[in-house]
Amino acid sequence: VNQGHGVKGLSEMKLLSIPKQFIQPPEERIDASKVVCEECIPVIDMACLDGPKVAQMICDAAEKWGFFQVVNHGVPLGVLEDVKEATHRFFALPGEEKRKYSKENSRSNNVRFGTSFTPQAEKSLEWKDYLSLFYVSENEASALWPSVCKDQALEYMKRSELVIRQLLEVLTRRLNVKEIDEKKESLLMGSMRINLNYYPICPNPELTVGVGRHSDVSILTVLLQDDIGGLYVRGVHDTWVHVPPIRGSLVINIGDALQIMSNGRYKSVEHRVIASGSSNRVSVPIFVNPRPSEVIGPLPEVLEGGEEPLYKQVLYSDYVKHFFRKAHDGKNSVEFAK
Ligand code: SIN
Ligand code: FE2
Repeated sequence: VNQGHGVKGLSEMKLLSIPKQFIQPPEERIDASKVVCEECIPVIDMACLDGPKVAQMICDAAEKWGFFQVVNHGVPLGVLEDVKEATHRFFALPGEEKRKYSKENSRSNNVRFGTSFTPQAEKSLEWKDYLSLFYVSENEASALWPSVCKDQALEYMKRSELVIRQLLEVLTRRLNVKEIDEKKESLLMGSMRINLNYYPICPNPELTVGVGRHSDVSILTVLLQDDIGGLYVRGVHDTWVHVPPIRGSLVINIGDALQIMSNGRYKSVEHRVIASGSSNRVSVPIFVNPRPSEVIGPLPEVLEGGEEPLYKQVLYSDYVKHFFRKAHDGKNSVEFAK
């Protein structure tokens, strides 16, 4: 797309309509009649974590919605603002600077600038550019991540660790897990990836998607969004529920790996993004994942009571490979573990 300046380059050409590669089939476009406003994903105040109700709310939200927002989560507002600004800085770089991190040019598979999701496998492209950073070590990040955003991305990741741990403790306690020991830590948070997402202004937001319907392959995802909006979550009966931007909040969602480990109790729910017709939107998800070399399946603690396993054991790196080979395809990724 546009000599590697991504969708942003296209957007800046001020086209009157999107190129036809981006036009999604009608069934993938946003259908206003299916967007419900009466319902909203829960907003949970983490300042009350020691109280009796918050753990319950977190687990209930993970079972019912697979999505919730947290406020008073302990990550300073300045850290969130800085990483959003850094995201704008990265995408404002000249095309040739960003291209240094493209699939063809990047010095490492752990650093990748791209457009859409899997262009080689997609019938229609997604209206999005991204920089994906797989965290290996502080040293590697310092050496390889783009200098305009690496400190801010690392700081955001580090400062999020406590709330991630708190959420995982609450969620796994309800699954009869006594403590997060070294083995569990490797299963639940053995690797991290951070994405800087950029959804340029789109002349026909109703004809395309920023991100097509998918569920995440993570254990859980911590998502920072700006104040533009456009993230929709699958609700009951084929409806879509908008996730309203709340200043300073983080959106949390359960990923496939935790759905599998909980034997279906926690839900990894479909979601998608519609680009804006008037603003460039950024979002910054942290994907908290099993270590790639781990084998995932329903946890023994969950099956103790005699529950039948709904999923088989799979090597997590195989699961991820499968996901990244295909176009976004709703919840089909989890079929790989059946
Ligand atoms: C995603 O789920 O891939 C992105 C979510 C967002 O940008 O809000
Ligand atoms: Fe996602």
